[in-house]
Amino acid sequence: MRHSLGQSGAGFIETVTAAGPYLNFRLNERRMLAEVITSVAEQGSMFGHSPQLLDSLVLLEFSSPNIAKPFHMGHLRSTIIGNILSNLYRSQGHQVLNINYLGDWGTQYGILALGFEHFGCREKLQEDPIRHLFQVYVASQAQVAKCPDFAAQARRYFSTMERVAALLADRCGVSVDAWDPDASDLAATLRQAAAEGEHLTEADLADGLRALRLWQLFRSQSIVSYERVYGDLGVSFHSYEGESQSQAVVPRVLEHFQQQGLLRESDGALVVDVPPAKNSHPGPDGADPPPQVAVLQKADGASIYLSRDLATIMRRYASHTFDRLVYVAGSEQELHFQQLFQLAGLLPGLPSDLPSRLEHISFGRVAGMSTREGTAVFLEDVLAEARRQCLAREEWGSRGPPDAATVAMLGLSSVVVADLTSRRIKNYNFCWAKATDPKGDTGMLLQYTHARLCGIERTNTNLLESGAFSPGQDLGQYRLPDDVEVPECAVQLAMEVSRFPEVLRMSLASSEPSILVQYLLGLCRCIGTAHQELKVKDAPAAEAQWRFDLFRASRATLSNGILLLGLTPVERV
Ligand code: ARG
Repeated sequence: MRHSLGQSGAGFIETVTAAGPYLNFRLNERRMLAEVITSVAEQGSMFGHSPQLLDSLVLLEFSSPNIAKPFHMGHLRSTIIGNILSNLYRSQGHQVLNINYLGDWGTQYGILALGFEHFGCREKLQEDPIRHLFQVYVASQAQVAKCPDFAAQARRYFSTMERVAALLADRCGVSVDAWDPDASDLAATLRQAAAEGEHLTEADLADGLRALRLWQLFRSQSIVSYERVYGDLGVSFHSYEGESQSQAVVPRVLEHFQQQGLLRESDGALVVDVPPAKNSHPGPDGADPPPQVAVLQKADGASIYLSRDLATIMRRYASHTFDRLVYVAGSEQELHFQQLFQLAGLLPGLPSDLPSRLEHISFGRVAGMSTREGTAVFLEDVLAEARRQCLAREEWGSRGPPDAATVAMLGLSSVVVADLTSRRIKNYNFCWAKATDPKGDTGMLLQYTHARLCGIERTNTNLLESGAFSPGQDLGQYRLPDDVEVPECAVQLAMEVSRFPEVLRMSLASSEPSILVQYLLGLCRCIGTAHQELKVKDAPAAEAQWRFDLFRASRATLSNGILLLGLTPVERV
């Protein structure tokens, strides 16, 4: 079975002639068109995908919101980009696990939880956890600003909670997210351990356990609401991990650096010198750049984002022996990931090529989509606004707007495509009018074009039955009649379709979804021109069939592309 185009590409070339310093290739257009159409007909929804399954496991971490802080545009971008990369990896034969690494631990969490004790309400939490936790977040931040003691209390709150969690892991072998607060035997073991000089009083233990119980509630409620929105976005995760799961491994990381003589104390905190990256630039005087210092443990003994990330790599490698671990996170975290990857090379029990298996997929900021409350975005609000904006457009004509599911898909397509038309590292300004213009470079254009092609199929069912895409067709015999003149717009369209497999490879090789999006927008422009010039319905029979087949092949390609963007192709608007 042919699984890419062009292997028989030599057959497209009719003549090669020398003209002075040039070689002129003459394309056999009919043969090229037949080849493109049959390849797509043969491969169908696999067109562009690699038929080989590679022995390669990719852990792809994306979205990763923080339960103690609002979901922001960066998380939405990470979700969109991560989802597409996951689809691209899979299309090229990799095995992929989508991981959501929740920010569910750290001093910030202490502020939120303590805030909840003051300003929270369990019923409201139950009703709409994300919004309620956001209100609590705003109130707690105001409290931090008003009363410096609040932050200190929050640090104590978190550090007690973390010490009890460490004790749970250490003495009972239970990780915090799997801990059953009602298991009385655990409480007894803990009480004994605390009494044996863990510097935890009975009161600390009770506080810590209470805090962990609340933490479990926040975490599970947040996951329920995230899942709902991820469902609307068409995104799913193989696992919800969290910084919380790694804190139990942090002591091993610290011990290791200690044994290597790399850990030192600085103002009560524990720090390491980060080895310079191989490709780091020399300083202005040509000397080595100054070493960077990274904190691995705070002065109050609490673990830190970086140390939890190091522990996470050890944990993930132990459970998955990954070939690649890819993080999709904003460009403001570049330094963090650079330090993380440099330090990961020093961890025990990992392959020597580990740093080259780690990759940070960075992206720029978006302006113009924040809600009234500030930088927070509630995904439901964004998607509702997207639907409203699509509905408000005037192009619906006498048939009126399409059904609700279609409108929702048009809205989502507008947001996703607007996010991916430029290179991911660029900052961009979001604008609703631009994002939902069906004539612009938008998700609307992709979906309208797809629906229009479906329309051609609906009105020409007889041609579907007789053409390359009919199930009984012998594709080896598929030809365009010899007397057919192939116009330029059809050649352009067929060439564009034939580029699809290569575009997917390029898009993945540079982890750049914009390559795929730009290609699909260009494909739609070619389809638009061909659609104007090549009539199907009233064309002579010999012409109608290949034109129909070419449009059918274009639709299959566009559909495969739209699916890889994480969207569902719309059949009617
Ligand atoms: N939760 C982080 C944030 O919102 C993103 C996590 C990125 N991944 C990681 N392993 N550090 O900024």
